[in-house]
Amino acid sequence: MKKYLVIGNPINHSLSPKLHNYWLKKNNIEAIYEKKNLDEKDVVKIIDEVKNEKIDGINVTKPFKKFVIPFLDKLTPIADEAQSVNTIYKESGMVIGHNTDVDGFQLALKYINYNVKNRIVIVLGAGGVVSSIILALKKLGASKIILSNRTKEKAEFLKKKYSYIEIVDWGKIPSFDMLINATSIGLKKSDEINLNYKDIGSGKLFYDVIYNPNETNFLLNAKKFGNQTENGKMMFIYQAQQSFKIWHKTTVNIDKKIIKLLD
Ligand code: ATR
Repeated sequence: MKKYLVIGNPINHSLSPKLHNYWLKKNNIEAIYEKKNLDEKDVVKIIDEVKNEKIDGINVTKPFKKFVIPFLDKLTPIADEAQSVNTIYKESGMVIGHNTDVDGFQLALKYINYNVKNRIVIVLGAGGVVSSIILALKKLGASKIILSNRTKEKAEFLKKKYSYIEIVDWGKIPSFDMLINATSIGLKKSDEINLNYKDIGSGKLFYDVIYNPNETNFLLNAKKFGNQTENGKMMFIYQAQQSFKIWHKTTVNIDKKIIKLLD
């Protein structure tokens, strides 16, 4: 039986097993998908198991998306560009690191028919997922990508690689079309991002990478002032769909049932 894993720390909250096992069953694929909480020192051992074919594929989540890179034989171009790996597999004797977050984010925007072309986008945060979001926005033709992070140095570090982004101080919100929360603020229901929603006004897209809770205060407040809102659920589902496609050469349907499964 083939074996797949998601690794991270913490990992308990991960809904990847639910999704993948649902699709495996639906497609009559004999495999299991589990989650594993790891310490840094155990990451290399798990990657060796892919090399030895004890494990057939790994999804990587916080905080290891960058950490795994030195232990892999090769990166796909998109993983290299993002310097972020969320999908590992073996091909031609090599352990490959790939990134499906970039696609996941693009497909999530397509799902809601949001066209980023020539739009001004602000991204809040500079954590593990942000490089993938920046790349997706660039590919989709955003006219301006503005980054704001509490620790400015981290935003400046990203600018070294993605020179086309602009950086503003944490707390400053220039005018925009789309505002993305890619911070961890909101994971606790009571978390608040200090924004002046009244001044920002209406008719914009507020996007939260967080999907659990499914409506953060960031989205609740934005909605109150007449903005469109979207959480990170479809991005999460699409990145999983793209990993599934890599491992099983099968494109799974994203139906209402799977969307509900995550609620
Ligand atoms: P990782 O780096 O492991 O991917 P992450 O959880 O994705 O971490 O990133 C957390 C993000 O949320 C960071 O951008 C962090 O800002 P710092 O770089 O300044 O730490 C941001 N963040 C978390 N709590 C925050 C808070 N209370 N106020 C502002 N930003 C916060």
